[in-house]
Amino acid sequence: MSTEKRHRSDVQREYRNEQIVVHWEPRYCIHTGNCIRHVPEVFNPDAHPWVAVDSATADQIAEAVMKCPTGALSFERLDGGEQEPHPEETTITERPNGPLYVRGHVRITAADGTIIREATRVALCRCGQSENKPFCDLSHRKIGFRTSEAGEPSER
Ligand code: SF4
Ligand code: FES
Repeated sequence: MSTEKRHRSDVQREYRNEQIVVHWEPRYCIHTGNCIRHVPEVFNPDAHPWVAVDSATADQIAEAVMKCPTGALSFERLDGGEQEPHPEETTITERPNGPLYVRGHVRITAADGTIIREATRVALCRCGQSENKPFCDLSHRKIGFRTSEAGEPSER
């Protein structure tokens, strides 16, 4: 049976059963919908809790979590299944009118050396207006940030 647990309300939530625990950090979620499109029976923003870990296999859930470009979702397998691998290379993919998606072994440090985040997936702001720098928070949409021909909609 799945459970929902909140760590420091609103900062990180976890959804678990005996096979897998899914972590969700709302401050990094920019609502791309990748997780919802991949396994809608598990990720449903209209349901409570919105992550139903009993509604698919741990393999399906892990695969969907790794589609999350911002790292808002992560998982830990409790059933001996494969954990998320660290990519061998680091890649940066620009999104039209939106952030930079970084995948790899990413460590972001502040000017004083404090580690801000270590992750395999992050979305970095390039419009300069995020209130959660260096991460994208969708502010690029509000300001109509453009990196390409006018007329294309802003990306998440
Ligand atoms: S894939 Fe990640 S960023 Fe996109 S909606 Fe799901 S949790 Fe949010
Ligand atoms: S690129 Fe998304 S908030 Fe700046």
